[in-house]
Amino acid sequence: MNPKNFISVSQLKEKDFWELMETTKSLKGDLRAGKSHEVLPGKTLGMVFLKPSLRTRVSFEVGMTQMGGHAIYLGPDDIKLGERETTEDISLVLSRYVDGIMARVFEHEIIEELAEHASIPVVNGLTDFLHPCQALADFFTIYESKRELSGLKLAFIGDGNNVAHSLINAAGLVGMDFAIACPEGYEPAESVVTRVRESTEVEITHSPEEAAADADVIYTDVWASMGEEDVAGEKKGSFEGFRVDRDLLELAGSESIVMHCLPAHYDEEIAKPVAHGPNSVIFEQAENRMHTQKALLALLMSK
Ligand code: CP
Ligand code: NVA
Repeated sequence: MNPKNFISVSQLKEKDFWELMETTKSLKGDLRAGKSHEVLPGKTLGMVFLKPSLRTRVSFEVGMTQMGGHAIYLGPDDIKLGERETTEDISLVLSRYVDGIMARVFEHEIIEELAEHASIPVVNGLTDFLHPCQALADFFTIYESKRELSGLKLAFIGDGNNVAHSLINAAGLVGMDFAIACPEGYEPAESVVTRVRESTEVEITHSPEEAAADADVIYTDVWASMGEEDVAGEKKGSFEGFRVDRDLLELAGSESIVMHCLPAHYDEEIAKPVAHGPNSVIFEQAENRMHTQKALLALLMSK
């Protein structure tokens, strides 16, 4: 894989993406077969979290252990990024101890600053703008389920947020059609949409039904993201109706799959019977976070 860091899916060439998918398949196969795959012996990943996490924290940490390495969790109160010392100094110091940094931060500029000053690979574990590790796991999950990516239609019902942005980037990379249904004012960033429109169809609508029609994948995420607690009430009013339920799923057809990055708010953006129903691959997504991230770390950190 060419890039040194993984800050955005937009850094990847299609060749890098497929190398990641192939490596994921092989590492997942090894794990399932009980075959040791200690490809990062003695390596340490520093994990910086300024926001809560279940999947990202556990999947990176367990993944490192399975590959013969180790991960250190640095929570919001441990290093007090930007408060106790500068992002630049944290990046320089961590580069002297560990072999890779994964960070979950608020402003996207912070992860860029960490990467700018680090002499080791930096992986984006979510920012307010992007969630690229999620998109890798999601596209691997779609491929496992549909055996193809190009030409499929993904309908995203909800906020034009970090998860949506990374999915748009991934759709652009492989030529998947993308439709988003969101309330007015919650569209994805113009810069993200414009870049991929050269290669991929991106439809922006305010009708969930229109987006869901004939979709192969129905995807949703929380209405208010981490850090938006103060506007959660206001967003709740705007997003009412932007829910993945049985009626919406019917429009997509019985072969469609339902996805959510989790955590879910049942009866807000998704009905629980749909999230836990036969079309759902939500828990496969969660599992695949670990497999795809292991592939990513193996490719970035064994260099
Ligand atoms: N999907 C996801 O990133 O989950 P966590 O916030 O629990 O890490
Ligand atoms: N958009 C959500 C994703 C959580 C994994 C958030 O940023 O909170």
